[in-house]
Amino acid sequence: MGSDSKIHTFEEVAKHNKNEDCWLIISGKTMMFTLDLNHSLVYDVTPFMSDHPGGGEVLLSATGKDGTNDFEDIGHSEDAREMMEKYYIGEIDEETVPQKRTYIPPHQMSNDTASEFFIKLLQFLVPLLLLGLAISLRNYTKKE
Ligand code: HEM
Repeated sequence: MGSDSKIHTFEEVAKHNKNEDCWLIISGKTMMFTLDLNHSLVYDVTPFMSDHPGGGEVLLSATGKDGTNDFEDIGHSEDAREMMEKYYIGEIDEETVPQKRTYIPPHQMSNDTASEFFIKLLQFLVPLLLLGLAISLRNYTKKE
């Protein structure tokens, strides 16, 4: 592997999602000898579908996405990792892999803005009240 490896786009790889045509994307970190640990590698496991000890169905379920977690979750043996080499057909162009969706918090609701306003009002009023209290206390003690 290495110099002649083909770069595939995610879209192209995702199309191979059938029993008779199955490609997987599994991160290079599973390959002990891969120097670039961040590269996802592409495997054509079509000839392996009926021989896979975990069955062909699970391989199909790992198509159209980065199957690294699925692969790692099983705790595949070193033998399994060595077998992968046979099915290696290239690398994935990382730019084409859809990014994981990041959570965008919803806009603050009017309820929140109302309570925010109330807090601001309190922040303004409380010192005034304290000042008033201090002045009246002073006046009161003066009289005595
Ligand atoms: C090129 C990729 C793959 C190869 C060469 C491979 C190879 C193997 C091998 C040799 C085993 C027997 C146990 C072992 O030695 O670890 C196995 C088991 C298993 N594999 Fe894979 N596998 C691959 C991908 C996957 C993927 C992507 C999944 C999940 C989506 C998966 C799910 C399983 C399951 C569930 C078993 C457990 C079977 C059992 O113990 O009953 N495999 N695989």
